[in-house]
Amino acid sequence: MKKNKWIKLAIMATLPMASTLALPAKPVILAGQKIVINDRNDAPVKTITAEKKWLLLPVKNGAPKQKIEIRVQGKPVRAFDIELAKGQPDWYAYLDISTWKGQQLEITSNDEKAVSADLDAIKQEDRELDAQQSYHEPNRGLFHFSPKRGWNNDPNGLVYYKGEYHLFFQHNPYGVQWGNMHWGHAVSKDLIHWTEVGEALYPDSYGTMFSGSGVVDVDNTSGLGTTSNPPMVVFYTAGEQSWTQGMAYSTDGRKFTKFDRPVVPNIKRDNRDPKVIWYAPGKHWVMVVWVPEANDQHSMHFLTSTNLKDWKEASVLKGGIGNDRYLFECPEFFELPVEGTQEKKWILTGANSQYAIGSFDGQTFVPEIERLNGQRGRDFYASQTYNNEPNGRRIEIGWWRTHTDGNGSKFNQSMSIPLELKLVQTPKGPRLSRTPIKELNNLRENHQNVSAVNLKNGQLFTAKGADAEALEIRTTLTPSNASSIHITVRGVDIFYNVAEQELSVDGVSARAELSDKGKLDLILYVDRTGLEIFADQGLLFMPINKNIPAENKGLTLKATGGDAQCDQLNVYTLKSIWP
Ligand code: FRU
Repeated sequence: MKKNKWIKLAIMATLPMASTLALPAKPVILAGQKIVINDRNDAPVKTITAEKKWLLLPVKNGAPKQKIEIRVQGKPVRAFDIELAKGQPDWYAYLDISTWKGQQLEITSNDEKAVSADLDAIKQEDRELDAQQSYHEPNRGLFHFSPKRGWNNDPNGLVYYKGEYHLFFQHNPYGVQWGNMHWGHAVSKDLIHWTEVGEALYPDSYGTMFSGSGVVDVDNTSGLGTTSNPPMVVFYTAGEQSWTQGMAYSTDGRKFTKFDRPVVPNIKRDNRDPKVIWYAPGKHWVMVVWVPEANDQHSMHFLTSTNLKDWKEASVLKGGIGNDRYLFECPEFFELPVEGTQEKKWILTGANSQYAIGSFDGQTFVPEIERLNGQRGRDFYASQTYNNEPNGRRIEIGWWRTHTDGNGSKFNQSMSIPLELKLVQTPKGPRLSRTPIKELNNLRENHQNVSAVNLKNGQLFTAKGADAEALEIRTTLTPSNASSIHITVRGVDIFYNVAEQELSVDGVSARAELSDKGKLDLILYVDRTGLEIFADQGLLFMPINKNIPAENKGLTLKATGGDAQCDQLNVYTLKSIWP
């Protein structure tokens, strides 16, 4: 399960460090250093005239990787690794070649053993030949976003702009494992149904397109749009090469223009993942970047800018060291009201969702409470929240690892469902809660409701209406004299230990507190690729990735050690989000 991440970290660990990384004072295009990857004089070349929209590259998952380079008029325009199929492909990667219509494309492979026959099966098409099957594969989550083709990891640039929610994501369009980082791009009106609109950012001579964020520059402080037509501006790390922070902008939410230089030069080593927000009281922008300090010390650097283009360092906050991943990668930074009070607090998280609550004066974040646990499940990572959300909600989406690369799959990985974050008061102080966004209610199809069921010690209660692969289940339970409660949904056991107030699912355990009245409230979202579990009014969020066989259906409840009550049980079957 950790395999992909290990491979990924191993790649990152071999990257050049500090001394070779600092960006020259004047930006120099590093052309030729990386993108020109073909070093065989006799490398096979296939020349075609671009006539159609797509170049189709045959992929066999697990085949040896070849480095493919595409040149137009002698200039390299695309370069990537691909597990090129020699025989029958598992799937085709689609590369948009419409910008070069009428021009010659030179396609070469620098694999030592590559022969021209390897390139024979590359072809061009105007239609998507797999359109019928796309999004309808048996292993695809029914209500979790996953890319049509290729691998995804982190969500990027979450922003609401001109009537659409944008979801950019770390994307490998050419394979189902991590690599070739692009920013994929999907849009939605409701955060649930997504339309992919092609790659927003392609790797360039500064590096591959690593994670980052997006804002709407409402006052046009950057001058990249106008006040009547404010630009969307996104920030990314040019990874694996210059490790600088880059910027791109758009005024239509589709076409992105990269700014002509990195906006933040390399600070240290493989620093990355810029999160940019507007700090209204100071009328300036704030960027938070993860920076690895000496001795593997994680830190978050805060920078400020008035125009999004010129940034200066404001402060540094240290996190964990090495494998202590507190404040490691993918910062997220925002302010929330403390529910039921006049107070507001700032929250800073890293990729593993451990967080700090504190105050911020526009320059320095001062934590009041540190190292709080965010999610308590498995493989929910690098989450980010929406900028410019029209209803003022703080909505989060995380990368949710799924085991979706088997059987020649043409896609892999997914996002979590969108979650609403709140800062609620608890006896221990303010804490973040996560609950499913209300738009998910629109996926409800069939509904069964039961109330006041006595769960007799040891007797199985079988709920109606759970005969589907996608389910939403909401229940309130009173354990009374029972020592444990077992909920089995689609064959997955959810075990509640009453004395410990602890929930255990598939080897993962976390505390789920009973309310003052001794009740346990639970919300479960169940898909083919796992369960997202919410308890204690969202104070516990436990995503559990697990492939659930299609034939596993149904829902049962059982109390042991004594009787318990099921006060309320609502079971909804959910519709698929896919067209
Ligand atoms: C987190 C991360 C980021 C990086 C990206 C690369 O999963 O490692 O730090 O920008 O993935 O894909």
